[in-house]
Amino acid sequence: MKIQIITLFPEMFEGVLNTSMLWKAQDKKLVEYKLINLRDFGIGPRKQVDDTPYGGGDGMVLRPEPLVAAIKAAESKVKSRPFDKLRVKKSKVILMTPRGKKFDQAKARKLSKLEDIILVCARYEGYDERVVEFVDEEISIGNYVLTGGELPAMVVVDAVTRLVPGVLGGETSAEKESFSEAGIVEYPQYTRPEEYRSLKVPEVLLSGHHAEIAKWRQQQQTRK
Ligand code: ADE
Repeated sequence: MKIQIITLFPEMFEGVLNTSMLWKAQDKKLVEYKLINLRDFGIGPRKQVDDTPYGGGDGMVLRPEPLVAAIKAAESKVKSRPFDKLRVKKSKVILMTPRGKKFDQAKARKLSKLEDIILVCARYEGYDERVVEFVDEEISIGNYVLTGGELPAMVVVDAVTRLVPGVLGGETSAEKESFSEAGIVEYPQYTRPEEYRSLKVPEVLLSGHHAEIAKWRQQQQTRK
């Protein structure tokens, strides 16, 4: 999978993309991330990307030309054909915006089946509405307004990357995933020590009875 991210602040991503699982996913060549600096598509010698809003008002609005030029540049690097043999779309352009559809685990799973994802990070003041014509989807990570789409894009990249086959080790990770997709939270986990500040690990987990442990975990899962 290739994930291209269009942003005015590529440096914000360095730590997140180059740490832990996301770094491992790249190292294993399962996922490739590419940062595209929106500034490179700015207009004129000052590489301007925004302007004042028509009709007046505070703040600046991202102009459509740099955003669309960046999207087109990213699209030209897409490896997958737009549709596979079954006419299923294999690449998507997604705009991060608090006005978008709420991101959830089911959406993360759907996106993890794609071959190419282009994430567009806008700024909090806004973007020229005509940009929407050039994206496939608008996604929000929650009902709150952040200063830009960068943190939401990182959330999407993380949630999607861990679902790409081979990124998480072990078969059980995939099994557990089917539960969380159904909206049921995983069972509580414990590790050493057996007793911590008089808080004990549930007896059943120390019993060695696999059937009993599985039953207990299922009960806990449903309860949660
Ligand atoms: N940009 C600013 N706030 C956002 C949010 N909650 N989700 C997605 N993009 C955003």
